[in-house]
Amino acid sequence: MNIILLGAPGAGKGTQAEVICKALNIPTISTGNMLRAAVKAGTEYGLKAKAAMDAGDLVSDDIVIGILKDRIAEPDAQNGFILDGFPRTVPQAEALDAMGVKIDKVIEIYVPDETIQQRLSGRRVCLDCGATYHTAFKPSKVEGVCDVCGKPIVIRKDDEPATVISRLQTYHKSTAPLKDYYGKQGKLVTVEGQDKVEDTSKLVLEAVKA
Ligand code: AP5
Repeated sequence: MNIILLGAPGAGKGTQAEVICKALNIPTISTGNMLRAAVKAGTEYGLKAKAAMDAGDLVSDDIVIGILKDRIAEPDAQNGFILDGFPRTVPQAEALDAMGVKIDKVIEIYVPDETIQQRLSGRRVCLDCGATYHTAFKPSKVEGVCDVCGKPIVIRKDDEPATVISRLQTYHKSTAPLKDYYGKQGKLVTVEGQDKVEDTSKLVLEAVKA
């Protein structure tokens, strides 16, 4: 099954991708995590992407489409995958169609902007394995340490309040039109993000299995 998770920054896409990944045993492909890894490694892509990411803007379609195309060609993605953070523009969705990728379901996690700002202020991430935590809603077992890989967990650079506002504006302008794109294809299911992670997971898994 090929699934797209759609939603504003901080809506919980990465958190729910972990749940679907375990339930269906298919990999999560997060363009955000891949771009952050490229920035950390100082690759050519990473150097080009860094300024846009730090400002809360989108990285150019060409770069992201190239990264995604290589990733979905890997062996572990042949039985299905969860796309977290891709596509993010209509041209990216069209590129996916042009690659011949069949999307089965697009699950939008809807969360109001005010809630998102509160969530991102408490988010902590592992820059090594990509696991996501929240100081109040999903704390790690040991403070400051990733449950999965034992590396330190940190505040993401683009989670500063001013950058979050800019990311939300970018979402509404460039990514929200994808709801219409996939809605017309009959693939869009909207799930209301709940206050508790596990309550949202229940709704997301119901949407996956429906
Ligand atoms: P990316 O990493 O994709 O960031 P994003 O879309 O902004 O999404 P986030 O990772 O911020 O949030 P999320 O929805 O995964 O929420 P999370 O589960 O962490 O992209 C980063 C940047 O890379 C972009 O700005 C752009 O520059 C670039 N980029 C990436 N892809 C691109 C593309 N395709 N094209 C162009 N540029 C691209 O949850 C948030 C917090 O809330 C966590 O702390 C979590 O624990 C908590 N939480 C989650 N669910 C709940 C709940 N139900 N109740 C309470 N707390 C919750």
